[in-house]
Amino acid sequence: MTAPMPTFPAGFRWGVSTSAYQIEGAATADGRGRSIWDTFAHTPGRIADGSTGDVACDHYHRHREDVALLAGLGVSAYRFSVAWPRVLPTGSGAVVPAGLDFYERLVDDLLAAGIDPVATLFHWDLPQPLQDRGGWLARDTASHFAEYADAVAARLGDRVKLWITLNEPFIHLSLGHGTGAHAPGQALLLDALPVAHHQLLGHGLAVAALRARSTAPVAIANNYSPVVPAGRTDADRAAAAAYHALHNRLCTDPLLGRGYPPGFDPTEVPTGTPAVVRDGDLDVIAAPLDVLGVNYYHPSAVRAGTPDDPLPFELVPLTGHPRTAFDWPVVPDGLRDLLVGLRTEYGDALPPIQVTENGCAYDDVPDTRGRVHDPERIAYLDGHLRAVHAAIAAGVEVTGYFVWSLLDNWEWAEGFTKRFGLTHVDFATQRRTPKSSYTWFRDVVTRPTPDQ
Ligand code: NOJ
Repeated sequence: MTAPMPTFPAGFRWGVSTSAYQIEGAATADGRGRSIWDTFAHTPGRIADGSTGDVACDHYHRHREDVALLAGLGVSAYRFSVAWPRVLPTGSGAVVPAGLDFYERLVDDLLAAGIDPVATLFHWDLPQPLQDRGGWLARDTASHFAEYADAVAARLGDRVKLWITLNEPFIHLSLGHGTGAHAPGQALLLDALPVAHHQLLGHGLAVAALRARSTAPVAIANNYSPVVPAGRTDADRAAAAAYHALHNRLCTDPLLGRGYPPGFDPTEVPTGTPAVVRDGDLDVIAAPLDVLGVNYYHPSAVRAGTPDDPLPFELVPLTGHPRTAFDWPVVPDGLRDLLVGLRTEYGDALPPIQVTENGCAYDDVPDTRGRVHDPERIAYLDGHLRAVHAAIAAGVEVTGYFVWSLLDNWEWAEGFTKRFGLTHVDFATQRRTPKSSYTWFRDVVTRPTPDQ
């Protein structure tokens, strides 16, 4: 018998997360423009199963059914993203009201169901016309992002309960512009570092725009991965420290007022573009945050690069743990260590944390009676929630936890091959079937808290 799940503080925010391109479909509805992910997914060879997000979970047409799933789950919050190309099809200029109408319907339906809308403004779907003008390598994209934030806040600023400016800027940098595995498919390695700076500058400018229109708290959602050296050599330890600086500190250090970590300062990048980081930028980026969003999936193992490697480290599989269908190691204690580590590393500069994503992919298949049993996901979530509780008990202020994801959805370069949902989706029929993890999570989040 496992011990009962410990109770979380009163007022703890329980939620689930999704993102626009992964669930909405309706790729050309109501004047939506194209994003870099439309372009990338339609490029042969980029997506594992050759699929696109053209239809995805058809959430754009089925959002009422999906809000009913959220209500049935008993969560107090839902994190979704707004698609920039629905609001500003060319990335800047004239707003398309119909695009915002959709998010207004969604937000109002959530509020009517007693669910806090948590809106992410950028979950990787940059309008293609902005990419054609340089994308996040261009400084102007940061100010266009702030204009877009202003347009969304002008419409929804009185009803959104938490803003998240950017989703995982490091992953968008590394996979989108470092290796090219994600849109826009650029493989620039460390020459991509200006992409981090321009995203963070856009974040800072967007914080000001949001605060001018809305009293809702403002956050950013970073991906974190505790790094372990693959071996005991000094070279492996140095490589692990370098990768930690890149993955975990590149965005967080400047956001919390410390500037860029040595070795990964975009000013030092030999792009030939002078003054990537200009006077005043670091102050804009360090605008106070109300909440730090933490997305956690797994730790990383790193060994020293060989002289032929283009980077001073090499990622290697972390062995000795169960693995998900994504081949990611399942290490719940990594989440506790990460949360406690953030507190140790940043001290009082650390804002309250909400875990804005945590979850796992398994090959969930309906049984002969149509039910979907996913005991591995229940075990994963159970372990990670206990880890969050342990971090709270150790003094870290964690005020919320969101499962990735409400629905099986379109998993970027993996297409439809990786299922992360609490709800199974049959992509041929759009039939939604809550999995056993949905019922399990419902039971966790609807337990009475000590003050009730
Ligand atoms: C993080 C990303 O924000 C989300 O879009 C993705 O689906 C999950 N990780 C799982 O890979």
